[in-house]
Amino acid sequence: MHEKELETTIKHLAVPGKGILAADESPKTAGKRLASINTESTAETRRQYRQMVLAAKDMEKYISGVILHEETLNQKTNDGVFFPKHLELKGIVPGIKVDEGLAHFNNTDEECTNGLETLPLRLKEHKKHGCKFAKWRAVYKISSSTPTKEIIKRNSEDLAKYAKACQEEGIVPMVEPEVLIDGEHSIDDSERVTHDVLKELFSALKKEKVNLKYTILKSSMVISGKQAKDRAGVEEVAKRTLKVLKATVPSDIPSINFLSGGQTPQEATAHLDAMHKLDKNLPWYVSFSYARALQEPALKAWQGKDENMHKAQSAFVHRAKLNSLATQGKYSSSME
Ligand code: G3H
Repeated sequence: MHEKELETTIKHLAVPGKGILAADESPKTAGKRLASINTESTAETRRQYRQMVLAAKDMEKYISGVILHEETLNQKTNDGVFFPKHLELKGIVPGIKVDEGLAHFNNTDEECTNGLETLPLRLKEHKKHGCKFAKWRAVYKISSSTPTKEIIKRNSEDLAKYAKACQEEGIVPMVEPEVLIDGEHSIDDSERVTHDVLKELFSALKKEKVNLKYTILKSSMVISGKQAKDRAGVEEVAKRTLKVLKATVPSDIPSINFLSGGQTPQEATAHLDAMHKLDKNLPWYVSFSYARALQEPALKAWQGKDENMHKAQSAFVHRAKLNSLATQGKYSSSME
């Protein structure tokens, strides 16, 4: 294992007051985001979208790493610099999404994640582009019959195999088991499922001998379903999330970075902040790795127009700053 390399990457990612931006939407998902501002999705408009976010002045004050999509690796900033190089020059660690999306599991509606077969080869290529960490996402839907034990086991084993392959290449794995917010489920259901998913994940990582010191957990929060009737409040989400993490995540893990998963930008910030207000002595660094909750306000301000670029970039950096404050328990809704 490339211990030194992995250690350095962790040191540069898990920085107090900073978090990770997920700018790794597939062309299909980026297309949806662009459609929301009536902008056609082409390789060039997607490049402009990345430019808007990644060239924002001062983002490096709050962002330690960025997860990119493969398409962006070969695209350049307006100044003709490849995006991974551009990030590196700003002191931001470039990362890459390496899973290849979802597939039906055993002819059921549950989903596992594609991409393990070609992973070792792709990791070598991504490393040449400067990527130092890599993300793999597994998803779980809560319903009366899901997730099943079988899918939890399968996804955990795949996450562990991918994590091992990353570390063998000197790339820090960012393991992402996402319990989806979609549905009417209660926070109790979310707590139970998140607990089971994380328990199984850490047992699989142990079996595969993944070094946890060089692994980042990208987790969902314990939260009521988006369509649930009585959704739990901010304090409750923070309390339950920390309860589950403390019961399942070994303290060897250096950093837990949450996904936003369909929470509003304000909710995602408030929940993170509440966790830090609740407990000042967490055994891991706890931060963010949001995509939508960091980029949505910027996207709205931008509207795909050059003349809005500055306004959009300010909106993005403002959001990043609020989340930075949340990692220190210093955010207040009056700052919105
Ligand atoms: O895999 C999901 C992304 O990395 C995080 O996206 O914050 O919009 O859920 P999100």
